[in-house]
Amino acid sequence: MAPLSNLAARDVETLVHPYINLSSFRDSGPLIIERGHGVYVYDTDGKAYIEGMAGLWCTALGYGNEELIEAATTQMRKLSFAHLFTGRSHDPAIELAEKLKEIAPVPISKVFFCNSGSEANDTQIKLVWYYNNALGRPHKKKIVSRLKAYHGVTVAAASLTGLPGNHRDFDVPLPGFLHTGCPHHYRFARDGESEEEFATRLAAELDELIVKEGPETVAAFIAEPVMGAGGVIVPPKTYFEKIMPVCARHDVYLISDEVICGFGRLGTMFGCQRLGFAPHALSLAKALSSAYLPIAAVMIPEAMYEALLAESKKIGMFGHGFTYGGHPVAAAVAVKAIEIYQRERIVEQAAAKAPLFQARLAGLGGHPLVGEARGLGLIGGVELVADKKSKRSFAAQHGVAARVVRFAEEEGLIVRAVMGDVLTLSPPLVISESEINELFNRLGRALDNTLDWVTRERLSHQA
Ligand SMILES: Cc1ncc(COP(=O)(O)O)c(C=O)c1O
Repeated sequence: MAPLSNLAARDVETLVHPYINLSSFRDSGPLIIERGHGVYVYDTDGKAYIEGMAGLWCTALGYGNEELIEAATTQMRKLSFAHLFTGRSHDPAIELAEKLKEIAPVPISKVFFCNSGSEANDTQIKLVWYYNNALGRPHKKKIVSRLKAYHGVTVAAASLTGLPGNHRDFDVPLPGFLHTGCPHHYRFARDGESEEEFATRLAAELDELIVKEGPETVAAFIAEPVMGAGGVIVPPKTYFEKIMPVCARHDVYLISDEVICGFGRLGTMFGCQRLGFAPHALSLAKALSSAYLPIAAVMIPEAMYEALLAESKKIGMFGHGFTYGGHPVAAAVAVKAIEIYQRERIVEQAAAKAPLFQARLAGLGGHPLVGEARGLGLIGGVELVADKKSKRSFAAQHGVAARVVRFAEEEGLIVRAVMGDVLTLSPPLVISESEINELFNRLGRALDNTLDWVTRERLSHQA
């Protein structure tokens, strides 16, 4: 392995990085990104990469957007910080909350600001618990999410997350967090089961789980419209239309985690609109500010707000909030980002580019290493397999998807590998059609190079 550059060596000696094998990372070191423009980022040697993941599914408007930079600097000069505690306020937060209510896909009464997707989901859970205490239902507290879901990493959000890598040795999930089946047809449908039949079975499974636990103990169900970090899993046809009545029947509060899907990723402003369901509440983050600054939001319906009002009146306070929640500079940037989404018709344009993106993605399905290439809108997942017919995966220790990531970097493309050897794609929504073609050309070459390596090492035959 090549020796680390000075900057890389300093990194290894000073940082604990998220989501990496901390041990092997000490030898491999980081890829250090120095600047970005449009859909490209550049490393410290000046090499350009197409940012095929929009950072972490978040830089929807690409890099170097002068309007967002201007919004931040103007607000920073005017008022660099103000909080929302104890009755204080500021106009960027008010304006942003008004804007979010206006564009919300379901009736929303109020908005609560946080700094990250994890905090938004953590807040959702606390609100659900507070709400059920307010309603005199102290036992209705369990929360259901799904295997392979990703909802973040705070103690409660990690408990919602349904990925073993986020649980193991962290002593989560906490009691009271339940996981129902993952809606991935390719992996979990029975032989000959149609998408609709699979969806019916999953809805019945959820119903059974709630009945078994006791509906008087189950408070909420949370779902990403399309699962992201679990491997870009698009639910089977009719899934949410069958899940919704189950939640309604048992008075279970339905939360849409729009942290990835919100603001156009699926070709609609919110993911639930594309998947055809009406949640009670939504969690927003990432593209809310196009990731220029950290900001997240919880969209709260009237019934929830009424309960928060009543309970805080009774006990004297609504004791929840983050110092930086609704930070004025982040809020000003988010207001500007939403203005750009609307003025530039970013969502409609994403929808218009989606057929090309999905056609090029589907084209990878024919590659010998690819078991399934799947996606919706401008999000895609490429699942690698050792044997297409049996869908057998490569042994995890071979790190085949990680190898594609490295070959892609050599080609000037950033993609991500998630558990189960799935490559994920989620480029900035402002990507052009020629850049989409270039992205897939580079990924195709990376897959070919990986296939050569797999063949040389005879990895397809090793369990
Ligand atoms: C759907 C979803 N929810 C929540 C989160 C957590 O967000 P954060 O990393 O900002 O805490 C993520 C992050 O990727 C996500 O994809």
